[in-house]
Amino acid sequence: MRITAALTETKGAPFTLVPLELDAPRPGEVMVRMTSAGVCHTDLIVRDQWYPVPLPAVLGHEGAGVVEAVGDGVTYVAPGDHVVLTFHSCGGCRMCHHGRPAYCDRFFAYNFSGSRDDGSTPLHRASGDEVHGAFFGQSAFATYALATERNVVRVDPAAPLDLLGPLGCGIQTGAGGVLNSLRPPAGSSIAVFGAGSVGLSGVMAAVVAGCTTIVAVDINDQRLELAEEVGATHVINGADGNNVERLRELTAGLGVDYTVETTAVPAVLRQAVDALNQGGTCGLIGATAIGTEVSLDMSVLLFGRSVRGIVEGDSVPQQFIPKLVDLYQQGRFPFRQTDQDVRLRGHQPGGRGLREGHRPEARSHLRLRNLPLVLFHAGAERFRWAAGERYHAAPQGTRAAAVARRYTSWSSSPSIRTA
Ligand SMILES: NC(=O)c1ccc[n+]([C@@H]2O[C@H](COP(=O)([O-])OP(=O)(O)OC[C@H]3O[C@@H](n4cnc5c(N)ncnc54)[C@H](O)[C@@H]3O)[C@@H](O)[C@H]2O)c1
Ligand SMILES: [Zn+2]
Ligand SMILES: [Zn+2]
Repeated sequence: MRITAALTETKGAPFTLVPLELDAPRPGEVMVRMTSAGVCHTDLIVRDQWYPVPLPAVLGHEGAGVVEAVGDGVTYVAPGDHVVLTFHSCGGCRMCHHGRPAYCDRFFAYNFSGSRDDGSTPLHRASGDEVHGAFFGQSAFATYALATERNVVRVDPAAPLDLLGPLGCGIQTGAGGVLNSLRPPAGSSIAVFGAGSVGLSGVMAAVVAGCTTIVAVDINDQRLELAEEVGATHVINGADGNNVERLRELTAGLGVDYTVETTAVPAVLRQAVDALNQGGTCGLIGATAIGTEVSLDMSVLLFGRSVRGIVEGDSVPQQFIPKLVDLYQQGRFPFRQTDQDVRLRGHQPGGRGLREGHRPEARSHLRLRNLPLVLFHAGAERFRWAAGERYHAAPQGTRAAAVARRYTSWSSSPSIRTA
């Protein structure tokens, strides 16, 4: 079937809209008509090849949409169901049997190999050339995606589907890191380092858990304002690096019960450990390039402090994501989009992908109606994908435009400018 997808051709290359062919669903597979897709930081580090996903590939792993068709044997969903697409897992390994699919023994193969388990890819160019797909068992940056029964999550059709994509990764990761992994008791203290979509979700989850001291640490004041809006009791601009002392001041000199690291900066992980009180636990979520090292004070760890890595919020998505939707619908987990639109700039119809140095007047703003490249954004910042930036899309022969919303801002990303 002919689809439109935002293709990543080479390392660091712009997302470029191209027509591709998508296979019909095989047994166990679910074809989804996408209504939106979040853009997670992990899409960007894969595009930049921090993780070796083979290219060209269609990325995107926070999709939301409506089931279009199902393959043989699928019973969990039927055409017409509203679904969120999440990470994939094998279902048959040691960890999957323990109910911990985020630590599936085959997590890398199932999510980052760019192909199905049997090595085939569901995506091709019209010429027949293969394009890597099945990214996180979905490749959501497209008008249609092929997922599997294991990584679709049925959601309440009354919930706003356009908003739900990031539940599949970023929001589930931050919220689950707190509610499933750290499980802070009511009345405890927590500090979340990094207030992007993952960190803000952690802050919202800390409110749900009943934490009474909730500190957000970031170097971006706009993100700290968002953190306050969604429930942080204190915020710290950590640009001067004095965060450990300031967290001790906020906790009668003791340090916090829990910390969550979402910046992927080694020095910040060090702070997140040093800021713990005795017996405290740090959850590590930020994803660094493979091989990144950190130094820790062994005597600090010795006194009952722990660091644990957390993937996808320890979530069993089919259970956890509907809970987050319930909390959202009750107003207790207030993730939201803002009114800001991002226009994807493209060439004139028939042109090739944009590259740095093209003159703006050579482009037209194009509406990508039905092309669900949706960025979620929680703040008042406005973004544009503009000349010279690496994020843009070039519709081929179509006049289209995307309304792009992002749950949180990317202003820390060198590739996106705030307008
Ligand atoms: N473990 C997982 O399963 C999983 C899942 C999804 C995302 N991730 C990773 O989680 C991280 C966060 O994702 P996101 O989408 O929220 O990213 P993001 O870029 O939106 O947010 C990161 C935040 O960290 C802040 N920051 C950067 N340097 C800082 C510093 N020195 N001190 C304090 N704050 C600093 C930035 O200003 C930004 O607000 C990424 O590394 C992403 O790849 C991990
Ligand atoms: Zn498994
Ligand atoms: Zn992700």
